[in-house]
Amino acid sequence: MQHQAIDLNNLSSKEVYFLLTSLVVPRPIAWISTVDKNGVSNLAPFSYFNGMCSDPPLVSVAIGDNRDGPKDSFRAIEETGIFCINLVEAHHAEAMHESSGAFPPEVSEFDVAQVSSVPCDTISCIRVADARAAFECRLVDVHRYGNKKKINLVVAEVIRVHMANDIVMPDQKMANQEAMQVVGRLGDGAYALLQTPFRMPSVKVPRRNPEGTTS
Ligand SMILES: Cc1cc2nc3c(=O)[nH]c(=O)nc-3n(C[C@H](O)[C@H](O)[C@H](O)COP(=O)(O)O)c2cc1C
Repeated sequence: MQHQAIDLNNLSSKEVYFLLTSLVVPRPIAWISTVDKNGVSNLAPFSYFNGMCSDPPLVSVAIGDNRDGPKDSFRAIEETGIFCINLVEAHHAEAMHESSGAFPPEVSEFDVAQVSSVPCDTISCIRVADARAAFECRLVDVHRYGNKKKINLVVAEVIRVHMANDIVMPDQKMANQEAMQVVGRLGDGAYALLQTPFRMPSVKVPRRNPEGTTS
């Protein structure tokens, strides 16, 4: 197999963005709802998002600044220390996409994209009413990176999970992924739906005893 070796130092930041986001795929989408200190609700998607660990239950989201300063979502997260991550499914795709527009701070994307909301339980912001899963989160840390443009890596603790009854497994607090139509983000404006999942049992490695033999 022949490969190209690409030195990222020779690429512009735009080229690096297109390269990495075409290869780190599919990325889950955190559709983040926030409320700022003036009480304006905000909704925007972020796919530099992932679960970090479960004990404690931490997630991370990288929110880059705009040319003229922090994005509304990040500003609100810093102001209030709270936010909600809503799961994006196929029927949300258009509204999710619309909510990614750079609307002014006083405009709520809930109104622009006509997304209905319900209050969160433990934090004072709203969440997407028909999202079949949502995480209420509290800010733990912000790590700042970036050369020309600032990147704010938000680390947060999930303090409450909402799940629609029709995606909860009958005998376990777990989601039935086959019942979900989660949207993942690919590169260059492309998206993918979760295909038929397949399972593999965990790998069993025989334990070594002190004599070096296996049991
Ligand atoms: C699917 C999708 C994923 C995105 N992921 C990110 C991301 O991980 N980080 C980021 O800074 N912007 C990301 N964006 C762009 C933001 O959604 C966009 O800048 C938005 O205007 C931010 O809104 P706000 O200013 O209301 O926070 C993404 C956009 C889309 C459509």
